[in-house]
Amino acid sequence: MGFLQGKKALIVGLANHRSIAWGVARAFRREGAELAFTAQNEKLMPRVEDLAAEVDSEIIIPCDVSRDEEIETVFEHLDNFWDHVDIIIHSVAFAPHGQLDGDFLDNVERDAFNIAHDVSSYSFAALAKAGRSMLKPGSALLAMSYLGAVRVAPHYNVMGLAKASLEANVRYMAAALGPEQIRVNAISPGPIKTLSAKGIGDFHRLLDHGARNAPLRRNVTIEEVGNTAAFLCSDLASGITGEVLYVDAGYHIQAMPVPEEEL
Ligand SMILES: NC(=O)c1ccc[n+]([C@@H]2O[C@H](COP(=O)([O-])OP(=O)(O)OC[C@H]3O[C@@H](n4cnc5c(N)ncnc54)[C@H](O)[C@@H]3O)[C@@H](O)[C@H]2O)c1
Repeated sequence: MGFLQGKKALIVGLANHRSIAWGVARAFRREGAELAFTAQNEKLMPRVEDLAAEVDSEIIIPCDVSRDEEIETVFEHLDNFWDHVDIIIHSVAFAPHGQLDGDFLDNVERDAFNIAHDVSSYSFAALAKAGRSMLKPGSALLAMSYLGAVRVAPHYNVMGLAKASLEANVRYMAAALGPEQIRVNAISPGPIKTLSAKGIGDFHRLLDHGARNAPLRRNVTIEEVGNTAAFLCSDLASGITGEVLYVDAGYHIQAMPVPEEEL
């Protein structure tokens, strides 16, 4: 029996088979969870439906997280299938075109800043708020952050600020929901080639640098992030909340690049 047997998990942020959310979905299903998904828009809906079918799910709900009414609808819809939710996965980020390239101060502007923070951070709290009445003691919420929240990564720019907000969000949400025995955590994965990552300038440099300088001398996979998500959202992690757990082959511990002669 899998260690998520009997858990009901809502996964927000599946776009395609490269998505981190797909690594999460597959690990969750393998461990016995029942799954529901959202799809950002009509265009993504058929692809999300196909992937959902592969993990035995028929619950796919449209939701653009920048729209309050769509977030509300997710839980109204879910209530038709499930009487509670054990797990909510937030695997969503967005910054307007041009923000994740070049000089931070040259590019940053008010609207783009607000959109990046709204979609990539506020929406995690908004989902928790809208879904709170369906959560119960033992439930777990999980978001995806990145090292750019705490260090400067080239071209990551306003998304670094949004991830810093997301990590603070995790701590405040953990404090708010802790007395109800609901846990809130984040994973900070190393760079992975996904649709969103393609939007970051010189992304291949982050991949190359990670593979050369991480203690494990490689990048991580969506399967590795999915396995960690499964652990963190299971009862095995019942004592962990408010945490940001790095799944980055150890990259974040290094103070200096690995010398050429050691490669
Ligand atoms: N790929 C990486 O290198 C990496 C590293 C660390 C963290 N992350 C984080 O992992 C998460 C998932 O990203 P990914 O790399 O799997 O890319 P992805 O493109 O597969 O997933 C991003 C998802 O965000 C959704 N999204 C964007 N705007 C939305 C909106 N307004 N409403 C609803 N959904 C919206 C997209 O539909 C998509 O499903 C993001 O938070 C990202 O920042 C990614």
